[in-house]
Amino acid sequence: MYDFAADPAQPKPEFYRELVSAADALTAGESDTIANMANVAALVWQLVPELNWAGFYRAVGEELVLGPFCGKPACIRIPFGQGVCGTAAARAQSQLVADVHALPGHIACELASRSELVVPVLRDGAVIAVIDLDAPRAARFDDEDRVGIEALATLLSRRI
Ligand code: SME
Repeated sequence: MYDFAADPAQPKPEFYRELVSAADALTAGESDTIANMANVAALVWQLVPELNWAGFYRAVGEELVLGPFCGKPACIRIPFGQGVCGTAAARAQSQLVADVHALPGHIACELASRSELVVPVLRDGAVIAVIDLDAPRAARFDDEDRVGIEALATLLSRRI
C-alpha cells in the first residue's frame, strides 16, 4: 500500500510538484500501462480537492476510449473533436472549461460536472491519451492547475 499526502492548502505550484513526484515514485520501474494509469487516477482522486471525476481516455485510432478512472461510470467512446476531451485530443492542446453548461457540444457524462480540465498526454508528438478532471463547482480550475496537470502529462508520456 502507498500512502501519499499533500497539503491542498499549500500554493498550487508546490502542491503539483509533490503530486508529480508521487506519480513518479508510483510508476517508476513499472511498464504496465493500465496499472500506471489506474494508480495515477487514484492518486489524483485522493490528493486533488473538489473533484467528482478523475481519469484517462486513451487514443485508439480516431477516437478516445475510456481508461482507468475514479468517479461514476462514464461515456466509453468519444470521437476526436467532440466534447472537451475530444477537442483536447484533436488539437493536442489542454482545455480548461469554467462552465461546461455554457459549452455547446459538451458531452454530459456526469451531471454533477460544472467545470473541466483536460490535458493531452503526448508521445513523440502524437496524442496517446488525455487526463480528464471534472469538478462540481464552476471555475474550479485555473492556469496553475493546468500547468500542474501538464507536468503530470509530461511525466506520463513514457509511463503509460
Ligand atoms: N464531459 C467530457 C466527457 C468525459 S466525462 O466528463 C468523464 C467531455 O465533454 O469531453
